[in-house]
Amino acid sequence: MKIKAPKGTADTFPPVSEEWERVGSIMAQRARCYGYGLIKTPVFERTELFTRSIGAATDIVKKEMYTFEDRAGRSMTLKPEETAPVVRAYIEHGLDKRPGLTKLYYMEPIFRYERPQSGRYRQHHQFGVEAIGSADPSLDAEVMRLLMDIYAVLGLEELVLRVNSVGCSSCRGAFREKLRDALSPALNLFCEDCRRRYGENPLRLFDCKNEKCRELLSDGPFIDDNLCEGCGSHFRRVLSLLELLDVPFVKDGKLVRGLDYYTRTTFEVVSGELGAQNAVGGGGRYDGLVELLGGRPTPCVGFGTGMERVLAVMKEQDLRCGMQGPPAVFLALLGDRPRERGLKLMYELRQAFIHADTDYFDGSLKAQLRQANKRGFRLVIIIGEEELAGKSAKIKDMLTGEEEKILLVEAVERIKAICS
Ligand code: HAM
Repeated sequence: MKIKAPKGTADTFPPVSEEWERVGSIMAQRARCYGYGLIKTPVFERTELFTRSIGAATDIVKKEMYTFEDRAGRSMTLKPEETAPVVRAYIEHGLDKRPGLTKLYYMEPIFRYERPQSGRYRQHHQFGVEAIGSADPSLDAEVMRLLMDIYAVLGLEELVLRVNSVGCSSCRGAFREKLRDALSPALNLFCEDCRRRYGENPLRLFDCKNEKCRELLSDGPFIDDNLCEGCGSHFRRVLSLLELLDVPFVKDGKLVRGLDYYTRTTFEVVSGELGAQNAVGGGGRYDGLVELLGGRPTPCVGFGTGMERVLAVMKEQDLRCGMQGPPAVFLALLGDRPRERGLKLMYELRQAFIHADTDYFDGSLKAQLRQANKRGFRLVIIIGEEELAGKSAKIKDMLTGEEEKILLVEAVERIKAICS
């Protein structure tokens, strides 16, 4: 029996994998312009890191974690998100004891045991940033500006940024009670999940996808109308800075997000092209997380965006990434001695950062030209016995069909000139 990849995972080959690389490098380039540097963390962590930070009542912790015991009996989990590992690393390396801001970006595989469907996988990949060390509302606005900037550079259209504030622990505590009071008369009309959430954390009711429950919640109360003074003025400042930075947004009092560590600003970017799994990216502020994980109180804000979903929107909108791959040259080498000389030239071309390849199936010239054409090579260099005797090669331009004779010693420079 053939072994297949696990359900909800994917193998990615060229040209799609090349699009991934290009999209990833554009994202990283944009993040570096905003002052972020790359962080890499392990694929698995101690389970407690996630139960403590994401929240015991969340779907991720309750149903979606890939948890296992290692051979020494310790509970480990494949990371279901990247914010907690970044904060864990930040504290572990003593960065919380240094003044100033730490700005990090990542591109990491994420594991969630969800019911697979279009746009929802058991292994997906997130590009994200975390700005650790400041409560300044301009940082919230900057993080959202960066996210929208990335989408704009990739050419994505018709995305909507939804923004909310979920307040701090004090205004949220008071709001929970207010929400419970407001919903209790109609509680039996909600779904079973919501009735359970009502007891654990009533804010989670806003997460429900059930139409009837959403309808019951449509008149509020909403958290953004019930913020304490500090959170209220922080939120107003974030919104006015978004306007200043030309970031269009929609205020959405129902946006709570699926992770418990958020405080104050939360946001999500949705696309009309993605059906049910319409969130392309999301994030927010998590001012309590560093302290919760044993570090000094340190305010933070960040986002994560799903690579698979970004690429799906790009496909839907027929977008290609603007960046070009290296120029490509195919060497058609006919006979043993020409092949030896050609292999040397191929090595020199690669040293010059030119994508050079050849035929490994002993094909005829015709077959090799066909292969080069099919694989999209721009130039073909032909070396046979006759060319070798004259220390030369023929270059065929596959776009124009023109041929030119060149000296082998000048080949690299000539090819560079043609490709530039
Ligand atoms: P999240 O909203 O759970 O946030 O995930 C971020 C993004 O990852 C989503 O908007 C979506 O594009 C993508 N995504 C999530 N689950 C899946 C899935 N099963 N299949 C495909 N794509 C998926 C977080 O994880 C936070 N750590 C983001 C953050 C960073 N907040 C602050 N800093």
